[in-house]
Amino acid sequence: MIDAEKLLPGDLAEHRKKVKDRLRNFRIDPLTLDLYRLVREIDDQDPDLMSVEETGTLLAIEEGLSAFFALFGHLENLLEIPALRADAARDRKLLEHRLTFASLHALFAAASIIAGKTAPIREGLPREEVRSWPLDLESVEVDANEIRTFNNVVSRFLVDLCEKKPDRSRVVTCSADFVCLTHDFFREMAERCTRLSQSYLDLRPVVENRHFLFDGVSVSGFTLQIEDPESVAVSGETFEQMVGNREMKTSLLGVADKILLYDTRTRRNPAKELGDFARTILLYGRPGTGKTMAISALIHELTARAKKLDKPFRAVLIGSDVKDKYFGESVKNLKRKLSELERGDRICLVAIEDIDLMLASRDDVNVNAADKDLLHELMNSLEGVASRDLGNAAIVATTNDIKGIEGALAERLQENPLEVRGPETAEDFAALFRIKLRRGFAPEDGGVGGYIRVPDKGSRRNPGWREIGQACLEYGFTGRPVKNICKRLMTVAGEFRMPEEVYALEGDQCVERLRSLYRPIDGAAVLAEVERYRTHSQAHEKAMREERIRSRKESLINELRASRLAQEELRKE
Ligand SMILES: Nc1ncnc2c1ncn2[C@@H]1O[C@H](COP(=O)(O)OP(=O)(O)O)[C@@H](O)[C@H]1O
Ligand SMILES: [Mg+2]
Repeated sequence: MIDAEKLLPGDLAEHRKKVKDRLRNFRIDPLTLDLYRLVREIDDQDPDLMSVEETGTLLAIEEGLSAFFALFGHLENLLEIPALRADAARDRKLLEHRLTFASLHALFAAASIIAGKTAPIREGLPREEVRSWPLDLESVEVDANEIRTFNNVVSRFLVDLCEKKPDRSRVVTCSADFVCLTHDFFREMAERCTRLSQSYLDLRPVVENRHFLFDGVSVSGFTLQIEDPESVAVSGETFEQMVGNREMKTSLLGVADKILLYDTRTRRNPAKELGDFARTILLYGRPGTGKTMAISALIHELTARAKKLDKPFRAVLIGSDVKDKYFGESVKNLKRKLSELERGDRICLVAIEDIDLMLASRDDVNVNAADKDLLHELMNSLEGVASRDLGNAAIVATTNDIKGIEGALAERLQENPLEVRGPETAEDFAALFRIKLRRGFAPEDGGVGGYIRVPDKGSRRNPGWREIGQACLEYGFTGRPVKNICKRLMTVAGEFRMPEEVYALEGDQCVERLRSLYRPIDGAAVLAEVERYRTHSQAHEKAMREERIRSRKESLINELRASRLAQEELRKE
């Protein structure tokens, strides 16, 4: 572990002064630019005032760039550069190699910090103000001299910030633009550093096992730790926690095995050369059978194994909420990400949740024409990924309604449908209860609480897991009801007021005392909750059905009224 905490705060203050001075008087011949003034002038309504977003973004830039110098100094020591310097005449090349690497990693960390700190600011902007910037930073050079590297990056950033349109009006016109440009610029920069680090496989281990913690942003090796705002949170559930669905599990793990063979350096996947394998998969099945869970589990699996193999991996998640949440700049963002995949420098999983809903939204009256075009384009680029990839990408889509999907992408997905059936036997359900209630089991059964007291096989009066599983099967449950029931059971078991003395206890003693407070749950209690859920959901379904009929009736009546009115109008004419 780097002593990041020890290294940074003191050092940073000093570097920060230096950074501020440079940003205030930055020479790009024949001009001297002042970042702070530039930002104040973006919005010329009031040139003395800065918006909260502008201030936050400037602070992020200052912090990131100070960390650049602080970390560079630290890396010099780690890479034994002082010793090499003393003997520079002997091995100039080696010295340069290491210095450039130090620049590269320090720049990666700086860019990650800036991108990480501006991500929430960008998230908070009104949707219509968010833009993404087409950037090509390939020409920005990373140098053995850290000041030169700093200058290269900052001058490119300032030039982008000052850019004018052909009519000489500014490209950046409001503080939201500044936030988005800064975020995109440094994010792209961080990604570029990751790509460049491929040429330093000898030195990468030096930074790979270290964690550089910086106020909410964590940098480890060349992995960027900021969450994509687009990516839907994944639940953290794994294949071990999944019951049933054996065929699907095997298939998905098989795809994982194969795309992990992809080599980013040679851009080849031997598995593809030996015989093409299916990389576009459609998971279909009733709601609550574990489709979303499967995606979460697959991402978990791929992330862990890619890390072990030291291969870059990225998950791109596209949800049905694309039409509410992502329009339209973010759809462009998604498209940009997809086009990145085609460069083949990382292994990738594209997950499309509830694809039927997304495809349906193309005909939705609520989506305007421009947005529809974008969605259409998104589908096309997905289709592009599906047909042209190098063996580095897999696409997994989910749907509750396999018949509801059409279009080129859908057809490709239909080639490889996998039914997700969820728990299918009484034993499956029993196993699912055991997984979900694990913590409530006694320690000898792998739990902690010991308040779940249900036998495997029971009787009428005290049902066991077998009877409970049987009931779930009869009621046509999927995994989701069981999950909800278990949550409820745990809540009920823990419903008691906490005696004051518990707070005075520590560690195991506290756990021990707490354990005695939980209310025991027996088979009858579990079964009662199963019944309750069923009654409840039947009532719910009935209400839903009635609501559907009511609204259908209403719209029929409206149509009728409208056509009658039209007829009357015609008659008058
Ligand atoms: N086969 C399963 N095994 C274990 N848990 C399941 C299974 N199916 C569903 N669940 C539970 O139900 C929850 C909801 O399932 P989800 O994956 O969202 O269903 P869907 O198929 O509608 O996407 C999951 O988070 C999980 O806890
Ligand atoms: Mg789902």
